[in-house]
Amino acid sequence: MDLASEIVERANEHFLCSQKPLVTLTYAQSLDGSITAWRGIPLAISGAESYVLTHGLRGVHDCILVGIGTVLADNPRLTCRKENGRDPQPVVLDSQLRFPLDAAMLDNTLKPWIFTTDHIDQEKRKLLEDMGARVIPLEADAHGRVSLEALLDCLGSMGVKSVMVEGGARIITNFLSHRLADQLVLTVAPIFVGGLQAFESRQLLEQTDPPDPNKFLRLADMKFAQYGDDLVLWGQLAPECV
Ligand SMILES: NC(=O)c1ccc[n+]([C@@H]2O[C@H](COP(=O)([O-])OP(=O)(O)OC[C@H]3O[C@@H](n4cnc5c(N)ncnc54)[C@H](OP(=O)(O)O)[C@@H]3O)[C@@H](O)[C@H]2O)c1
Repeated sequence: MDLASEIVERANEHFLCSQKPLVTLTYAQSLDGSITAWRGIPLAISGAESYVLTHGLRGVHDCILVGIGTVLADNPRLTCRKENGRDPQPVVLDSQLRFPLDAAMLDNTLKPWIFTTDHIDQEKRKLLEDMGARVIPLEADAHGRVSLEALLDCLGSMGVKSVMVEGGARIITNFLSHRLADQLVLTVAPIFVGGLQAFESRQLLEQTDPPDPNKFLRLADMKFAQYGDDLVLWGQLAPECV
């Protein structure tokens, strides 16, 4: 079975047993773990072949999620640019409703779902909703950002079976440190960038000091393949439902 079919099957099983979407973390990094050179500036890291793979994966997920930092930096459309591919529903985490009124995503057929908190400008909310976006306030976490647990509960109640989380660094860090990512598809490009690290702090994994190697978050059932010059590896981050 190929990776895309595996994900669809796993998402169905996961939803049946948890009523929550399967979370696939997917991003591209350099050999030194950078996802861009400077926070807030886009950088194309992966090559053409792995780009095709990523867009194929977008097509098999119900939703694709990024943080507002990525929207402000890259202005992505988050569509599936693969022949006959199905667009996933774009989802943005944006606690303060900083979402730009001229964001490219607002021109998509599927307008974005913007998950936010209660502390937002209601006029801006109305403007975004008039443009077709869905603005969904949720409870905030201890740092005032959208609670990821509340987000997954809400998406599950909306019938969403799979979410592809594409970044950026703060979103990747938060999903990993809360152990809310079920699987990882990581593209590693053969370059050194020396920039913004995908995962921002070991402390967030509740490690001991000195760190205990047995407690590191670990990728299980790891597989890999070469796509052009890039290495793509994937595996499971959370035990499957039983
Ligand atoms: N190489 C790749 O695959 C890849 C993919 C995507 C992005 N990128 C790069 O990553 C960079 C952006 O990364 P970033 O870390 O600045 O921004 P980000 O992770 O895209 O977004 C982070 C922001 O999302 C909001 N947010 C809301 N709820 C959150 C939660 N529960 N956890 C974490 N964040 C939450 C926060 O802003 P509020 O407090 O205002 O809500 C937070 O600052 C860009 O330069 C982009 O080019 C690279």
